Amino acid sequence: MLGIIGGSGLYKLEGLKVIKEINIKTPFGEPSSPVVIGEVEGKKVAFLARHGKNHQYPPHLVPYRANLWALREVGVKRVLGISAVGGINKLLMPGDFVVIDDFLDFTKSRKSTFFEGIFSLNVDGEDKVAELLNKKKVVHIDVSSAYCPEMRSTLIQILEEKGFRFHRKGVYACTEGPRFETPSEIKVLEKLGADVVGMTGYPEVVLARELTMCYASLCVVANPAAGIAGYRLTSDEVINLMKQKEEEIKEILISFIKSLPDDRGCNCEKILEGAEV
Ligand code: HPA
Repeated sequence: MLGIIGGSGLYKLEGLKVIKEINIKTPFGEPSSPVVIGEVEGKKVAFLARHGKNHQYPPHLVPYRANLWALREVGVKRVLGISAVGGINKLLMPGDFVVIDDFLDFTKSRKSTFFEGIFSLNVDGEDKVAELLNKKKVVHIDVSSAYCPEMRSTLIQILEEKGFRFHRKGVYACTEGPRFETPSEIKVLEKLGADVVGMTGYPEVVLARELTMCYASLCVVANPAAGIAGYRLTSDEVINLMKQKEEEIKEILISFIKSLPDDRGCNCEKILEGAEV
C-alpha cells in the first residue's frame, strides 16, 4: 500500500473515499495524526498529517519515527511526502513542483534512526527490520539514492503529462526550524548545492528507508528563500500558496496512485542487505 504524508496546508486528502481512521500506538510513541485508510480508484491508500490535523507539531517536534512506524503497521511499503519548501535556486518560482533527488541535513535535535544498537527498542514482527532491532544491531544504510527512482520517474511522467511547471531533480536542505533561515544561511546552502530548503524532509526519508520502504517527496515551492525575495517571510504566504496548489496536488496524487505499478521494480526493499555491523 502507498502511504501519503501531507505537510503544511495538506491535512486531509481530497478525493479519498475514507474506509477507516485508525489511532495507532507504536513503540516509538504516538504518530502526529490518526492514519486514514481510504480508496482512490480501487487502490488502497494510507494518509497521515505530518503536523497533526490541526498543525499542532512544529517541524523539530514531529514524531517522525512514530509516523513511519504507524504506516508500517498498516502495511505501507511506499511513502510519498508532500512538502512546502523555500526556493534557493534562482530558476525556481513559487508554485513550481520539485521532484528532489538528494538531501543535505542541517537538523540538530531529531532522532534519525530506529537502529540504536544496544539502546534499540524491542518490537513485534518477523521481518529483517524486527530482527535487527531485536538483536540490537548497529545499522548503516546507504543513501546514494535516497529517493525511490521508480516513484520519482512516475511523478515526473505525471507532471510532464499535466503540463505543470516542475523540476525533475533538486537538492533539499533540511534546517531545524521552526524559524525561517537567515539570508546568510541561505547563501551558504546555495554554495553547498541546495536548490530548496524545508524543515521536515529529514529524517522522514531515512526513517522510511530504514523500514525498507520506498520514499519520494513532492516539493512545492511556496516562497523564495530568505534574502532572495527581499521581503519578510510569513507562514501565511506558505499556507496560502499551498491552498492555491491544492487542486493540482490532488490531481497529481490521483494520477500517481493510479499509475504506480503494484509491484515494486526498484531495489529499495533490499536496503538492509549488508547494512548491519
Ligand atoms: N524555509 C524553510 N522551510 C520552508 C520555507 C523556507 O523558506 N518555505 C516553506 N517551508
